[in-house]
Amino acid sequence: MKNEKLVRGIVSSFKPYQGEINPDELAKKLGLTTEDILPLHANENLIIEKEWLLGKVSEAISTLDFRSYPDPETIEARDIIAEHFGIESSEIVLGNGADEILDILAKVFIDPGCETLILEPTFGIYYTCTLLLNGKPKGILLNEDFSPNVDAVLDALTPKTRIIFVCSPNNPTGNQYTKEDVRRLVEESGCIVAVDEAYADFADYTLIDWIHKYENLIIIRSFSKSFGIAGLRIGFAAANSTLAETIRKTVFPYNVNKLAQKMIPVLVKSWDYLSQKISEVKKEREFLYNQLAKNGNLKPYPSQTNFLLVKVVKPNYAAKSLQSRLLDKGILVRDRSDLPLLDNCLRITIGPRTVNQRLLECIKEIFSEDKT
Ligand SMILES: Cc1ncc(COP(=O)(O)O)c(C=O)c1O
Repeated sequence: MKNEKLVRGIVSSFKPYQGEINPDELAKKLGLTTEDILPLHANENLIIEKEWLLGKVSEAISTLDFRSYPDPETIEARDIIAEHFGIESSEIVLGNGADEILDILAKVFIDPGCETLILEPTFGIYYTCTLLLNGKPKGILLNEDFSPNVDAVLDALTPKTRIIFVCSPNNPTGNQYTKEDVRRLVEESGCIVAVDEAYADFADYTLIDWIHKYENLIIIRSFSKSFGIAGLRIGFAAANSTLAETIRKTVFPYNVNKLAQKMIPVLVKSWDYLSQKISEVKKEREFLYNQLAKNGNLKPYPSQTNFLLVKVVKPNYAAKSLQSRLLDKGILVRDRSDLPLLDNCLRITIGPRTVNQRLLECIKEIFSEDKT
């Protein structure tokens, strides 16, 4: 194709994001309705009631005029986020999901040939956003217990290093890194440390107030997980106001749609309900962990998120087989076996009790049918 010559080399050689089959497609394939499918592959919030959220969306929508553009300065949403998280409005940059924030950060910091350090196995978008800017992502393997090898990260620094991506709690291992490990990375690296806290509301702590202490720290948050609005796309970066202002300069106007912006005050007002749901996620996490641990064929890992990493330890049984047997029963989970350290591991989103029960029954059924 003639156009091929015009496409940047990095784009030509790029492999597109490969998720799992979407729930609607799967339902069609199995002759089921979408409601029959358990989407446990994308770490969405299945514990917040759909009807409750629809009510909140209606509340927000009724105040909006969609003929005009959204507020390019995102003032109301930033003010409310600032109050909720105990930071200043000037310290916030809003994005179309945390994903867009990562894309924006790459644009701000990565010149061609510059490096990013990525503590792996982790979230794939850190590689994507680095590569698309002709940067060089360098993976630094976590320790066997999934803690960061801080010395190895610091040893990998070169004058070309721009960003260290730190996902904490980490997707897909589920653990939150110690404050001491993150402190060392921020204090000893001298480059931008982007701590992705997409799952922090399910964890023991957040480091968001450290932005007042460290000029090179950026915290990334998502409203897709604890706030349950993955479908509306909104997330943010928090950093000291000088850095946040620099980042804001590069953001296209109207990047966050009106409804997503309006949902922030509506949901923050409903924080009592949401925090109750966060407690429920934690309770279900413990339940599912204990039940899976009892099944001798599986080893779940402790988690500070809304998902569990689970290793299939049954001899000669591939995680991929379990994934595909679950798929036949309308349950989507993510196979992470292709990532370093995660041989034979699946990642499973935590649902409400009925969903978790169905998952457990299906797993039991599969292992009793596949006795070898
Ligand atoms: C660690 C991590 N960061 C960021 C994101 C993207 O979040 P958002 O839906 O806000 O784009 C995800 C989504 O799964 C994630 O796991």
